[in-house]
Amino acid sequence: MRVTATTEAAASTAADTIVVGLIEGEGVPHDVEGGALQALVDAGEAKASPRHLAVAHVAGRRWILVGLGSRARLDGEALRVAAATAHGRARDLGARVLCWELPHKARELHPARAIVEGTLMAAYAFTAFKTGAGPNGDDDEPDGLRELIVSDHEDRSAAVTRATVVAEAVNAARDLQNTPANHLTPTALGRRAQELAAVHGALTCEVVGRDEITARKMGAFAAVAAGTDEEPALITLRHEPEDGAAADAPVLGFVGKGVTFDAGGISIKPASGMADMKYDMTGAAAVIEAVGAIAALGLPVRVVAVVGATENLLGASAMKPGDVFTTASGLTVQVDNTDAEGRLVLADCLHHAIGQGAERLVDVATLTGAILSTLGKVYSGFWADDEAWAAEVAGAAADAGELIWRMPLHERYAELVKGSTADVANMSPPRTGASCTAAEFLHRFTGGVPWAHLDICGTAWDGGRAYAPKGGTGVMVRTLVALAERTAAAAEAPVPANVD
Ligand code: BES
Ligand code: MN
Ligand code: ZN
Repeated sequence: MRVTATTEAAASTAADTIVVGLIEGEGVPHDVEGGALQALVDAGEAKASPRHLAVAHVAGRRWILVGLGSRARLDGEALRVAAATAHGRARDLGARVLCWELPHKARELHPARAIVEGTLMAAYAFTAFKTGAGPNGDDDEPDGLRELIVSDHEDRSAAVTRATVVAEAVNAARDLQNTPANHLTPTALGRRAQELAAVHGALTCEVVGRDEITARKMGAFAAVAAGTDEEPALITLRHEPEDGAAADAPVLGFVGKGVTFDAGGISIKPASGMADMKYDMTGAAAVIEAVGAIAALGLPVRVVAVVGATENLLGASAMKPGDVFTTASGLTVQVDNTDAEGRLVLADCLHHAIGQGAERLVDVATLTGAILSTLGKVYSGFWADDEAWAAEVAGAAADAGELIWRMPLHERYAELVKGSTADVANMSPPRTGASCTAAEFLHRFTGGVPWAHLDICGTAWDGGRAYAPKGGTGVMVRTLVALAERTAAAAEAPVPANVD
């Protein structure tokens, strides 16, 4: 979809459909001659209550009036939802060129950003395996939007470009998530990272397979991969700004869990819902596509992204409960449950990221079912061992409009993953804070580097939001890009003069 910004009035653009947001207690901002839109409000047909829709045909085009609710509560999320709601009606009505008239003086810093994100994310459909014609793969559907124009008094082109890049990265992550595991293999995930590196000069990518994972003594990662014939992939995707900028900013280390299918291994999962385990590579999708967006935006920040990609199956050579392996860090792990495979892969990947120069770590993983019970599909779980870094990650999520909730680290959780035959065990006793003990397991492998952990089990798919109702949500792409933006901005800010 083409996305542009204009300072022209919506009615002067070539759009076939114009969206106008209604704010409670306020009139229609730019009415048509004769006041036909305000008349719809006065008649009670158009309403400012959130997500309410009305359609009018006046002045030679179609108008969609969407409720935005009260000005006090008009934040980025409200705008994304409104944009997605308006998009749904526009698509049903066969709109091809849509112009959004931005609400004036919204509380949200960049309403343009939220409108573009909401529209592009709502327009997403996963059709790769549908042979029908329409945007959702059904033959009788309209073609879908060709163009989105954002109209405001001020020039919003920078915000629109930025939001388009980020929303496209989110949708690319959703493609990776939604692709079935027989197609989205670890090799295919590596190919996607290499594809991004081929397009962006600031990116370099290394993908190595089983032999090299073993040669690098990543015993925990190799143990998970032992259960499948499918070649695993250790993906290292590096962003180095071309002009050598960002030398002052810390090197960000993004680590993603890339289990392309998690059957649980010998500790096999129940059959019901197992198909959803194709989403167990969501963390990997987020870090890869976020780095692609960081490169596309040309952000002056160095990033090293590490993805451990493998299936977790139960082949004849699979790891068994009770087995002990030596990780790349030298710590030994005992596998009490082969279904707690994510932390095994991540242990070696965190260590690898540090070896690659990461100075701040954030890992993203569909790690524990328990976080879904705890926080539902609303918040992602968030742990951090450094207050300054925690504030950056929390700030980035807030900038991006993604919800994360801080959870505790504590030595007493760490005690629950002490091994009986090895240094660490990959499982704690049942019903004893599984998400927190999993975090403390990872903590053993972060080497004192400021670290944050995002458990996205609940938020990775079937988000239930208007802009991402079903399938992969692309969660954390927006937060990771915002984190890179903050890191770059902090490094560029003038350093206070040194008073001796
Ligand atoms: N990939 C799963 C986590 C998961 C569970 C994601 C349900 C989505 C829905 C992870 O590898 C896993 O199996 N975790 C186990 C850990 C347990 C064995 C300690 C879990 O949460 O049950
Ligand atoms: Mn598992
Ligand atoms: Zn898993």
